[in-house]
Amino acid sequence: MARVVMTNMSPAMSSSPPLSPTSSSLSPQPSVVPLPTAIPVRTIPGSYGWPLLGPMSDRLDYFWFQGPEKFFKKRIEKYKSTVFRANVPPSFPLFRNVNPNVVVVLDCESFSHLFDMEIVEKRNVLVGDFMPSVKYTGNIRVCAYLDTSEPQHAQVKNFAMDTLKRSSKVWENEVISNLDTMWDTIESNLAKDGKASVFFPLQKFLFNFLSKSIIGADPAASPQVAESGYAMLDRWLALQILPTFNIGILQPLEEIFLHSWAYPFALVSGDYKKLHQFVEKEGREVVERAKAEFGLTHEEAIHNLLFILGFNAFGGFSVFLPTLLSNVLGNDAAGLQERLRKEVREKGGPRLGFEAVKEMELVKSVVYETLRLSPPVPLQYARARKDFQLKSHDSVFNVKKGELLCGYQKLVMRDPKVFDEPESFKSDRFVQNSELLNYLFWSNGPQTGLPTESNKQCAGKDYVILTACLFVAYMFRRYDSVSGSSSSITAVEKAK
Ligand code: HEM
Repeated sequence: MARVVMTNMSPAMSSSPPLSPTSSSLSPQPSVVPLPTAIPVRTIPGSYGWPLLGPMSDRLDYFWFQGPEKFFKKRIEKYKSTVFRANVPPSFPLFRNVNPNVVVVLDCESFSHLFDMEIVEKRNVLVGDFMPSVKYTGNIRVCAYLDTSEPQHAQVKNFAMDTLKRSSKVWENEVISNLDTMWDTIESNLAKDGKASVFFPLQKFLFNFLSKSIIGADPAASPQVAESGYAMLDRWLALQILPTFNIGILQPLEEIFLHSWAYPFALVSGDYKKLHQFVEKEGREVVERAKAEFGLTHEEAIHNLLFILGFNAFGGFSVFLPTLLSNVLGNDAAGLQERLRKEVREKGGPRLGFEAVKEMELVKSVVYETLRLSPPVPLQYARARKDFQLKSHDSVFNVKKGELLCGYQKLVMRDPKVFDEPESFKSDRFVQNSELLNYLFWSNGPQTGLPTESNKQCAGKDYVILTACLFVAYMFRRYDSVSGSSSSITAVEKAK
């Protein structure tokens, strides 16, 4: 027999945004506490299957027969629940110490438990129970792998947020001047070949502006880093996450060669050493401040800076900006470019910068909508710190201390109980209803939340939004229209 609990006693409500049933009913919270509604306690559906066979079968579905999105969707249908048990890779045979068993959470309500640091911990679960070797980060567990209960977390997070705050002006200027270079390169390639690839100019743009803003280091000071620093980061990043990442190349080759074992750091140790030297020498001012003001050791400062630069910032933007470009260029049926151009020119002021883009409601909404439909970090994990009751929209489940929760944001952000027409790209969705920002979770927390030393929300959250807005606004100051896709530009019409 089902037991009942009161919805307003759900642990998620203590630190997560309140959730309403549909976007049309998302309204400011009532001042009177609503009467508790009874919802049933259910056993978490699904099973982990036979030892070895269950994880293997789920792994093949996840990477090969279904792909991640279908993998999770099919199981929602099968169990008639957005919360269920499943195995997520990597797993058997060569990941013996990795436990693939997870409790999957796939609606806004259940996903928001991942942000409640009273009930979950985030030690070593950045990409699940599997953790890439600490050799990739100088034998140091960097910020993203630390739980809030570990004192170093506050030290490094505060250092990261302080660095961002101090570099705000440099950041803004570097974005603009490196966008000049990026679009100059694209234009000249376009003139030569009639088509210009976006990938390399974009990667160089990111590496240059991020090095200067985060580390205070000019890549030009080291010819080798200037030439191929971005490629060094790409290789270092790829080797860490390959066992968890679905590429979609010819199977079973991907399964055999990319998902069967963890790649050794030795393959990129030479690259990493060069990047370490670059940060140590060219970024010494920031490194010294980390030591003097935040109590980090010399090595902790360098490896954390490299991780923030390479994994968090460069990795995140490398996934996000091409999708943003694709949405801006590919959704023009309703005259999106024209509307963006109008707003950017009206509100851009004499100098494009953070203050100007904050006023651009449509630009911001396009950025938010891209993050909703294509969250750059689709999977998030957290481990139950204690036994607790996890609530979805319609049920409550008992979770045991130590169980690993896994949220797949691509589906969570299409929760039909929160977002109208959840599958559609609606450019002004967030202009129409800014309350929805309470349910935009790309940064491992609501868009209305604040990253602090006590939570695990992305330290660069606001800089990501402002940078993406600058990226869009710059395009429509420079051009009347742009044609192409996320990978190549086929025509530009200069601003008249
Ligand atoms: C599009 C770009 C970015 C995306 C999509 C992104 C996303 C995320 C996500 C999802 C997390 C939480 C991971 C987890 O614990 O599950 C995170 C954490 C973090 N991000 Fe970002 N991020 C981006 C850019 C940046 C930038 C520019 C910075 C700083 C310069 C930054 C610094 C951090 C740090 C330090 C953490 C760890 C927070 C903590 O341990 O409390 N990120 N990011």
